[in-house]
Amino acid sequence: MSITKICCIGAGYVGGPTMAVIAKQCPHIRVTVVDLNEARIAAWNDSDVTKIPVYEPGLSEVVAEARGRNLFFSTDVDGAIDEAEMVFISVNTPTKTYGAGKGQAADLKWIELCARQIARVSTTDKIVVEKSTLPVRTASTLKDILSHTGSGASFQILSNPEFLAEGTAVDDLLRPDRVLIGGDQSEEGRAAIGSLVEVYANWVPRERILTTNVWSSELSKLTANAFLAQRVSSINSLSELCEHTEADVSEVSRAIGTDSRIGPKFLKASVGFGGSCFQKDILNLVYIARTYGLQEVADYWEQVIIMNDHQKRRFAGRIIRTLYNTVNGKKIAFLGWAFKKDTNDTRESAAIYVADHLLLEQAELSVYDPKVPVQQVYTDLDYLATRSSDENKSLLKVVNDPYEACRDAHAVAVLTEWDEFRDYDWQRIYDNMLKPAHVFDGRNILDRAKLEAIGFKVKAIGS
Ligand code: UDX
Ligand code: ADP
Repeated sequence: MSITKICCIGAGYVGGPTMAVIAKQCPHIRVTVVDLNEARIAAWNDSDVTKIPVYEPGLSEVVAEARGRNLFFSTDVDGAIDEAEMVFISVNTPTKTYGAGKGQAADLKWIELCARQIARVSTTDKIVVEKSTLPVRTASTLKDILSHTGSGASFQILSNPEFLAEGTAVDDLLRPDRVLIGGDQSEEGRAAIGSLVEVYANWVPRERILTTNVWSSELSKLTANAFLAQRVSSINSLSELCEHTEADVSEVSRAIGTDSRIGPKFLKASVGFGGSCFQKDILNLVYIARTYGLQEVADYWEQVIIMNDHQKRRFAGRIIRTLYNTVNGKKIAFLGWAFKKDTNDTRESAAIYVADHLLLEQAELSVYDPKVPVQQVYTDLDYLATRSSDENKSLLKVVNDPYEACRDAHAVAVLTEWDEFRDYDWQRIYDNMLKPAHVFDGRNILDRAKLEAIGFKVKAIGS
């Protein structure tokens, strides 16, 4: 079947950019992105394209080109589902916060609601594509629900995991290393896979479009993220050893990265990885392994998370120790709140946890991030429920000027690797800070020699 109408349920960090790029590259396909969240849809439709709710370099331009032509954002979920031949599911699948599998399993509540909604409103056959990160065998849940519709419509379920990284989403989507499509190995399944291959083939070379069975595709997504996160945890584990020896983790990283078997990517020591995928996907892998009684497999992968939690706590601990074991009432400036640069996403950002540790010691925090809205910072902290929302507001201030954030501070901590931080007038920051003025570079992006020449005491990760 040649696809002419696509619907995507969920207008978030995955659905929004993915559909914008499909619409840009396939002007002959009508793409409608729907979401229950009216404010989010209104923001995607804002006449000022710089106000769309997801910040990604290049995304506003793609939306400006396709929106109104063949790209639409709407809250009419039912209408868009019924009209489409292919329905992508890009709703959130957060880690469960209650009941069985709490803290590990993915909460499939939203996925199930979507499936029921598709089943209820569909009057014609459809291809349903899992786009969100889902634990292995979710497709069978979808299939179960969709096969009991009573409407006579039939469904093929495909897994098409997203490999885009936030901050480079548009580029990743335009020039993917590979696109992975998993489906049933029946005749109908293969036909459905073929339909989705044709969509991507509009701009992705065919040899980069891999097809597999559904379970391999689902598991590949978790595996890719687990391997990447493991590299970060591995180098972070060595950063601690470096801090106790004369080794410098950046030099170690460079040295091993030139070994072509290892390669240079994902070897940057940091305050810890964040984002909506790594932790969630590894926890999923751990949960699935435990479900099958594979204790050693579960423990092996769980250690990646344990190391990451340790790294965040350790960073906060180092700040406290350096500031003479007390940060009570001391002002500490945070540069960055997003989980990495070039995104306004803060999910699982290391900054949240480092802030929480420092607030437990009654520090006063002043946060600046170029793209994260003020309210998001408080929402993230309130979500931890360590202290009341009023306490968070009184201990932590969000400011929109980095120099203001650092004024009268005892220390500056870099939590996100935004490029602009390098280019600041560090002399001016130094002049307005309390002395000794400390810098804790949680991303190893600053020029240490330059800062030390100004008079800062600098501590980077792993040296
Ligand atoms: C990740 C995967 O890369 C992507 O393929 C998948 O679809 C979703 O999850 P994302 O979470 O957007 O993407 O960001 P990524 O670039 O992978 O970074 C994850 C975290 O690791 C960030 O907090 C980043 O700062 C950290 N990181 C990354 C390091 O600390 N060091 C590194 O060397 C690389
Ligand atoms: P991701 O990073 O996976 O894209 P987000 O949380 O950014 O996650 O986006 C998921 C979106 O899905 C949210 O905007 C949410 O409102 C939307 N959503 C969740 N469930 C449904 C549903 N049943 N129908 C429509 N939209 C939904």
